[in-house]
Formats: sequence, C-alpha cells, structure tokens
Amino acid sequence: MTTIAIDGPGGAGKSTLARNLAAALGLDWLDTGAMYRAVALLSLRRGVDSADAAALGALAASMQLEVGTAVRLDGEDVTGAIRSTAVDGIVSKVAAHPEVRRQLVERQRAWVAARRGGIVEGRDITSVVLPDADVRIYLTAGGDERASRRAVERGDADPSAARASIAARDALDSSRPASPLVVADGAVVLDSTGRSPADVLEEALGLVRAAGVAPGPVPAPPAPRPVAGRVVRPPSPAELRFYAVCRAITVGASERFHPGPVVGAERLPASGAYVLAPVHRTNLDWLTVARVTRRRLRYLVKDEVWRRSKLAGRLIEALGAFPVDRSAPDREALAKALEVLAAGEPLVIFPEGTRRSGPTVDDVRDGAAYLALRSGAPIYPVGLGGMEASMPRGARLPRPRRVVVVVGEPLLPATFLATAGTASAGGRPSRVPRSVTKALSEALRAALQEVHDAAEAAVGGG
Ligand code: DC
Repeated sequence: MTTIAIDGPGGAGKSTLARNLAAALGLDWLDTGAMYRAVALLSLRRGVDSADAAALGALAASMQLEVGTAVRLDGEDVTGAIRSTAVDGIVSKVAAHPEVRRQLVERQRAWVAARRGGIVEGRDITSVVLPDADVRIYLTAGGDERASRRAVERGDADPSAARASIAARDALDSSRPASPLVVADGAVVLDSTGRSPADVLEEALGLVRAAGVAPGPVPAPPAPRPVAGRVVRPPSPAELRFYAVCRAITVGASERFHPGPVVGAERLPASGAYVLAPVHRTNLDWLTVARVTRRRLRYLVKDEVWRRSKLAGRLIEALGAFPVDRSAPDREALAKALEVLAAGEPLVIFPEGTRRSGPTVDDVRDGAAYLALRSGAPIYPVGLGGMEASMPRGARLPRPRRVVVVVGEPLLPATFLATAGTASAGGRPSRVPRSVTKALSEALRAALQEVHDAAEAAVGGG
C-alpha cells in the first residue's frame, strides 16, 4: 500500500491536497492537526492549563478519538468546535509538549498500520511520524495567501485576524524543541501560491507516479452524451442583458435586506462550466446564491413553479431556469443540465433536493455528483449563514438579518474517477460506476457541512 506524508504551515492547502489525493488514489486520509486540536479542546473543557504537560499527556492518552470526515471526541461530534478561535489560541502550546506528541504519534502510526498505508498530513509527518513514506511533500504558500485561505475557511471577510493567528502559530510550531515544523531531508517542496487545487494535485500525482506507487494518469471525465433534438446554445447578448438587469434589481434588494459578505467568490472560474451547490434552507436561497457571481446562472427549479403560475415560469425561464420533476429521477432535466454544462455555463443545483432545516447537512441526492462526473465540471459547495434565521419554516415573509455566503473549495470529479480506474481504450471512462457517484456525493455532503458551519459561525461572529 502507498504511504504519503504531507507537512507544511497553516493555510498552505495541505487538507485540500490530501483530500484530493485521497480521492484520486482511493486512499484514506488523516488530518493530524485535528488530533492536536481535539486535545486542546478537551483541555479547555476540563480546565487543564496549556502549560501542564503531564495533565495534557494524560488527556491525550485517555481520550477516545475518531478523525474522518467528522471528528468525534469521546463520542461527541466536535468537527466545528475544534476550529474555534479559543482552540486556535492554545493549540500550538498544547502541541509543543512531548508528552502529548508521544501519544498522538503512536495513534497516527497505528492508523497507518491498520490500513497498511494512507495519506497523513501535519507538521512532523515527513520528519518524525513517517520518515520512510513513499512520497514526502512539504507544501507551502505565501503568507498573505495562507491567511486569506484560512479566513475563507472560517467565513471571515477580513483576513487580518487570520494573518495574526497563523503567524503566531507558525512561529511556535517552527521554533519548539519537540518535532518542530521543518523541511525534512529528502522532502519535496511544493509551493501552492497562486495555483488552483487541481494544479497542485497534478504536480503531487506526478511525484506519486515518479515514486512508482500510483495507478496510471487521472482519466479525463466522460464526454457528455449529446441529447437528440435539443442543443443548448450559449446565451444571446439580449438574454444576458435581461439577466443582468433582473439580477441587479433582485440581488440589490436582497443585499439591502440581508446585508453581509460573500466569502470565497474569487474561487469561482470567470469562464467555463461549474456546478454551484448551495445548502437549501429557505425559499429565497436561489436569490442569495446569485450574489456569488455576475455570470448568468442556470437553475434547476421544481416544476411546480410552472404548474402554479405560467407567467412566473416564463419569467424565470427567460432568466435561465429550467424545470425538474423532483418526485422521480428526471432524466430529461439531467440531460438538459448536462447540455448547459457542455455549453460552458454555471449551473445551480440544491444537493439536498428540497428545503431542510437545522444546522446539519444530513444527506444529499446524487444529481450534483452525477452531473459533475458526466461533464467534468467541478462542484463548488456554498454555505448560506443566517438565511434560516431570517425565514424559519412556516414564516411567510423574511426578516431583515445579516447573511454570510461562503463558497468552499471545489470538488474535482476527475479525482474521483481516477479511483475507479474506469479509463477505457480512448482514455475516457465509458460509464460512471455507482460507487464513484456515491463517494462524490458523500464528499459533497461533508464539504457542504463545512461551508455551512463556517457561514453560520461568521453570522454569529457579527
Ligand atoms: O493544521 P492545523 O492548523 O489544524 O494544526 C493545528 C495545530 O496542531 C498547529 O498549531 C500545529 C499542530 N500540529 C502539530 O504540531 N503536529 C502535527 N502533526 C499537526 C499539527
């Protein structure tokens, strides 16, 4: 089995790279920072001082911890809690104690041994935990870029707080006597400054291949099947003008009524297709999500709208919406959506299928993953913080509230296809296996939960 070790400072993109590599290679991935964060959280809850090495070591030894898409500490889901500012403030001090490190390093090695491989990321993986890993990467990026990425993760429009917090932690992590963050001998330095996740992934996959431990190249996504009789053409200038005017009026009103920032919009490509996948909590989510880009968005909208009012249907159709029957898998709507993506337009689909309530993204339907896998378009998860509070279930009208929109890192379908090894003679998989669609859907669910938590936390933070 393959073992890949990744180290680097905060915000360098380690988790993104590890997640993408894991999907591309079909390996499990371990975020060791989450383990140090769990000890820090536990110490805050138990009132243990961050200087008390022996007591912290005992906490690390006795806690029950599972780190996966969710982080569970003694049975409780602490995925969001370990990213709090309080934890940020002490985690480097907690991680500096050899008593804590010994316990966690042992667990990390056991994790790898149980799987006979995997991807492990942190600060001392290439140097201490897995010095003999097949591939060892030191991932870095410029300080400003790391700060703005962290701010985006947290749903924070202003990166200055993240800059200060990251700089303080980097200084502690690099200067501590026990397993400091260093570029280990023989580790390959990758710089992700100004580069897309796909680009960094490609370089890392090159290292994996060079080490002779990877499957072949990442296959291209399958070509979208042409749909007989209908061709979606790119929008005409008149259609674009109509959209721009309607967008300016409606989005302008929405921004006045629900003021707040959009975080992470710069991640969205200025041209070409993508799937925009927001959480769904209110009847106005479609409008709030239109804040993220001036490009014309195409929406899959429930067909009841057309049944209830022909006029409303015509209007939103002119704006780029098209109907979907939600009672059954609607092949025609999916085919049309594929055409839209093939024409290079961004498409909005609510993966939860229908309006949900509460902070949890319980499950998602497979439509978004299917469309991404068939078209090759990336999926951008979108969190809408404050929307549900503004319009709880049963409310007829929205209330004025602060709303924060967070656009997350894209999920890249090619990495999921690579896992399946579905390349046919022509390099394109002839079909997308169900297991791959399911894996991408599950990754989307986890990503949606992350951005939604970040968006809600940012609303709470004022
Ligand atoms: O990657 P992160 O920001 O979630 O990590 C949280 C802290 O844990 C960070 O200050 C460094 C520390 N850490 C460590 O000392 N060793 C690791 N292998 C991983 C993280």
